[in-house]
Amino acid sequence: MEVTNKYIAIRSHIDGAPQESDFELKTEALSVSIEPGCNDVVVKTLYVSIDPYQINRMKKFSSSQKTSTFAVAINPGQAIDAFGVGRVVASGHPGFEKDDLVAGVISWGEYSIVRGGNMLNKLDSMGFPLSYHVGILGFSGLTAYGGFFHICNPKKGEKVFVSAASGSVGNLVGQYAKLFGCYVVGCAGSQKKVELLKEKLGFDDAFNYKEETDLKSTLKRYFPEGIDIYFDNVGAEMLEAAVANMNTYGRVAVCGVISEYTDTKKRAAPDMIDVVYKRIKIHGFLAGDLMNLYADFLSTTIDYLRTGKIQAIEDISHGLENVPSAFIGLFCGDNVGKKIVKVTDDYN
Ligand SMILES: NC(=O)c1ccc[n+]([C@@H]2O[C@H](COP(=O)([O-])OP(=O)(O)OC[C@H]3O[C@@H](n4cnc5c(N)ncnc54)[C@H](OP(=O)(O)O)[C@@H]3O)[C@@H](O)[C@H]2O)c1
Repeated sequence: MEVTNKYIAIRSHIDGAPQESDFELKTEALSVSIEPGCNDVVVKTLYVSIDPYQINRMKKFSSSQKTSTFAVAINPGQAIDAFGVGRVVASGHPGFEKDDLVAGVISWGEYSIVRGGNMLNKLDSMGFPLSYHVGILGFSGLTAYGGFFHICNPKKGEKVFVSAASGSVGNLVGQYAKLFGCYVVGCAGSQKKVELLKEKLGFDDAFNYKEETDLKSTLKRYFPEGIDIYFDNVGAEMLEAAVANMNTYGRVAVCGVISEYTDTKKRAAPDMIDVVYKRIKIHGFLAGDLMNLYADFLSTTIDYLRTGKIQAIEDISHGLENVPSAFIGLFCGDNVGKKIVKVTDDYN
C-alpha cells in the first residue's frame, strides 16, 4: 500500500536564527508495505518533540555533529529525525505489531520507516497522556533528572540556579531540586514565566533576565551566600555571571548553551582563575549517556506525577505544518514548558 507522506525539511543549511523561509513542507509517495524478510517498522506520527539541539544539526558545520549519532548533520531536503510517539502501521520486526504504540526516533513527518526498529520502543502509556512520553517521561525528563542528580551531585539545602527555567528541561530541574530540599532560583524571559515559576512550580525565587543589565550583580542579589549548583541551559554571559557567584566546590552542569547556538559571536568566557581557586567543576553532559538512570528516573517521576508533587508543563501546537514555527519559537522564548507538535488527531 502506498500513502502520501508529508514531512518537514530544511531548504539549505541554517547559520544564525532559524526563519520560516528556511523550511519547506515536502510531499512524497511512500510505500507502507513490508517486503518479506524485512525487519523495518512503519510508524504513523502522533506527537513529535521540538528541541533546540536540532539547530546545530542544521548548520553547515558544528563541532557537535561528529559527537553522537543524535547530533549528525541534517542535509537539505531530507526528512528530519526526531524523538516522538507514534502508532505502528506495518511491521516486519518481531518486536512490533500493527497498531502498537511506540516511542523513539521517528521524524518531523506524518510517517517514518524505522529501519530494523532501531531506537524504537513499544510504549505503555501507563494512563498518562501520550505527550508526557515526549516530554516529562521522555528525554527532557531524563535530562533534567540525570543532569541534576548525577552531574550536579546535590546536597539538601544547597543553593541552585537554573537558567531557561520555564523551559522543558529547566522547569523540571527546578521541581526536582525543590523536592530534594534545595533552595532554587530560576531565570526566564518574561514576567509571565517568572510568575509561573514562583506561583505554580514552587521555585523560591525567579527573575526576568531580559530586565537585568548586570547579571553578576543580579545573581549576587538573589544569592547573597553564593551559588552551589548552576544548571546551565543558555551559556554565554549567564554562565560567566554564575561562575562569578559560585561558592567553593560549586558544580556547573552544562546541559546546553542555547544563546550561543544562533549567534557565533557569543561565547562564554568564565573567569578561569575563579574556576581554579574556587575548585568549580564544570561538566558538560548528554542525556543519551545517562540511560543507566532511566528506570530510576521513570519510577521516581511517575510516583511524583501520581502523587501530584511534580507538574507537567507542556506547550502543544497542532499540525505538521506548524513544526517550523514551533521550532523557531524556541529561540525567541515563545514556548512555556515542553514544546511538542501533535501531528494527527487519529489517536487521543
Ligand atoms: N545535554 C542534553 O542531553 C540536552 C537535552 C535536552 C536539552 N538540552 C539543552 O537544554 C537547553 C534547554 O532545552 P529545552 O529542550 O528544555 O528547551 P526549552 O528551554 O523548552 O526552550 C528553549 C528556551 O530557551 C530560552 N532561550 C532562547 N534563546 C535564549 C537566549 N538567547 N538566551 C537565554 N535564553 C534563551 C527561551 O526561554 P526564555 O523565555 O527564558 O528566554 C526558550 O523558551 C538547551 O540548551 C538544549 O540544547 C540538552
